[in-house]
Amino acid sequence: MGCAISGLAESAGLAEKIVRDHDAGGRGGGQHPNQDQIDMIKESWKVIRDDIAKVGIIVFVSVMSFIEKSVARLDQLERLEALAVELGKSHYHYSAPPKYYDYVGAEFISAVQPILKDRWTAELEEAWKTLFQYVTCLMKQGYKEADRQNHAAVSPKERADKRNTAL
Ligand code: HEM
Repeated sequence: MGCAISGLAESAGLAEKIVRDHDAGGRGGGQHPNQDQIDMIKESWKVIRDDIAKVGIIVFVSVMSFIEKSVARLDQLERLEALAVELGKSHYHYSAPPKYYDYVGAEFISAVQPILKDRWTAELEEAWKTLFQYVTCLMKQGYKEADRQNHAAVSPKERADKRNTAL
């Protein structure tokens, strides 16, 4: 069945109850949301969706401004490297982990492709991909460095103290 019954509900024996209610045509758990709930979901989804769109735009604008700086540094790669490593460090503090960085590059490429129309070639795509791979690799280094610094900042004694308070 397509309906996702959580493992928790299942272990509590709720799954059987839901199935029984369903078979009995009951209006309890396991049924589709009622009309009031549907209206509420629809209303709230508008807000959620708009906000998610805003977040996307903010990230995209940030990426654009970073690309602007990167392109300006393409002839001074050591400056670009320093910038990208710093960016990785700041993303550690934003809790934005490296596993998502590649998606940003792919998104960026598919967004800019239509702008260049015929001028977009396989070679150009390869060039942009290379730039993103280069930058994201450096960001990952910066992220790891910030992670190491963060852990080094917590002394063994502090770690022991933390363990004690957790108990
Ligand atoms: C190639 C990948 C990415 C690039 C080039 C990039 C670039 C940037 C830049 C330039 C900023 C502006 C602030 C700063 O310089 O530190 C920024 C902020 C930020 N980015 Fe990214 N980003 C990338 C991936 C991501 C991903 C995958 C996430 C989320 C999972 C993310 C979340 C954030 C957040 C939360 C901020 C702070 C926004 C704020 O509160 O001002 N970024 N990013």
